[in-house]
Amino acid sequence: MGDHRPMRIAEFELERFFARWEFAVRYLLCASDVEGWRMADLLALADDETAALWSGLRLGYTEAPGHPLLRAEIASLYDTIGPDDVLVFAGAEEAIFCLSNVLLGPGDHAVVTWPGYQSLYEVGRAAGADVELHELREADDWALDVDRLIGALRPDTRLVVVNAPHNPTGMLPMVADWTRLTGVLADRGIHLLADEVYRFLELDHADRLVAGADAFARGVSLGVMSKSFAMAGLRIGWLATRDRDLLARCAAFKDYTTICSSAPAEILSIIGLRAREAVLARSRRIVDANLAHLDRFFAEHPDRLSWIRPRGGSIAFPRLLDNEPIDAFAARLVEAEGVLLLPGSQFGFAGNHFRIGFGRENLPEALAGLERFLGREPRQR
Ligand SMILES: Cc1ncc(COP(=O)(O)O)c(C=O)c1O
Repeated sequence: MGDHRPMRIAEFELERFFARWEFAVRYLLCASDVEGWRMADLLALADDETAALWSGLRLGYTEAPGHPLLRAEIASLYDTIGPDDVLVFAGAEEAIFCLSNVLLGPGDHAVVTWPGYQSLYEVGRAAGADVELHELREADDWALDVDRLIGALRPDTRLVVVNAPHNPTGMLPMVADWTRLTGVLADRGIHLLADEVYRFLELDHADRLVAGADAFARGVSLGVMSKSFAMAGLRIGWLATRDRDLLARCAAFKDYTTICSSAPAEILSIIGLRAREAVLARSRRIVDANLAHLDRFFAEHPDRLSWIRPRGGSIAFPRLLDNEPIDAFAARLVEAEGVLLLPGSQFGFAGNHFRIGFGRENLPEALAGLERFLGREPRQR
């Protein structure tokens, strides 16, 4: 007989899905990250200082807030942030966990963009907060509805979470909307968690937003090495904010999770961030080439699939137009071609949407598998 107690937090559907499939399929056509760097290629980018840090590295505990040189590199991604405004975590996920627990509890209200990365709303719920989802709608081309979002704010709203570029839709707010939203939050003293893990992958560079941490004092930027920087295996993420009190409370919370970061991952992250021009150029090259394939693919299958072209990031949220439910379609596809799509049900999102990822170098082969499947399997009505 099992004596399992229910978890104190709902299961993370998407992560359970990836735990089942990620390393069992040939083609991950729904991955959210960009093709990971080979360590040898990254080390070749080291300058004299970081090469010496790497070769002389001792595997002791590291500084709890993050290596000073790493925090300096992270700070330089922003306009108004210094190294002491940065706290390093084990990936973005740990940062979300700590910040949500520090900021939210019973009696607090939060508004979070949805569909989305589940921990952005689930951790706050598990902490006892009233978390309201701000639904992005296909009919609005997935755009952030700033009037509706501002209308949802209440006197007890402590936190607004906006992920942009957005997982899974590729939404990126218009600059004017972003300015208005951050202005209202600043006036009302509400914290913003800007999940910017796909920042620097805007399809049009002119669309890049002012970072949350730069927008106002209670703005918090969430960044990570995993997505645009294509080094998910490092498990290095960070929060950046001018709200030092908040950062100190997150640091105190982190004493109960990881305490400090992995020593090799910190040095490799410094190397990657110092070489950011080359690192980001590679990511954009991969994403741009894959988008051209997707443009052709969706143009050739308008009777089976529709999509709203993303404005940033490495993922999109198209829709299967067949009557067959996307879960069944995806199950048959992975069986027949070894190509994995992520059904919208994993986000709790009704309808026939699925996430497609275009950060991996084998996208053309994966897409060919999907195309073969579509060709072999006439539309089910
Ligand atoms: C929007 C968003 N935020 C945070 C994360 C977590 O990033 P990491 O797994 O690198 O901690 C992800 C990962 O998929 C994500 O898509």
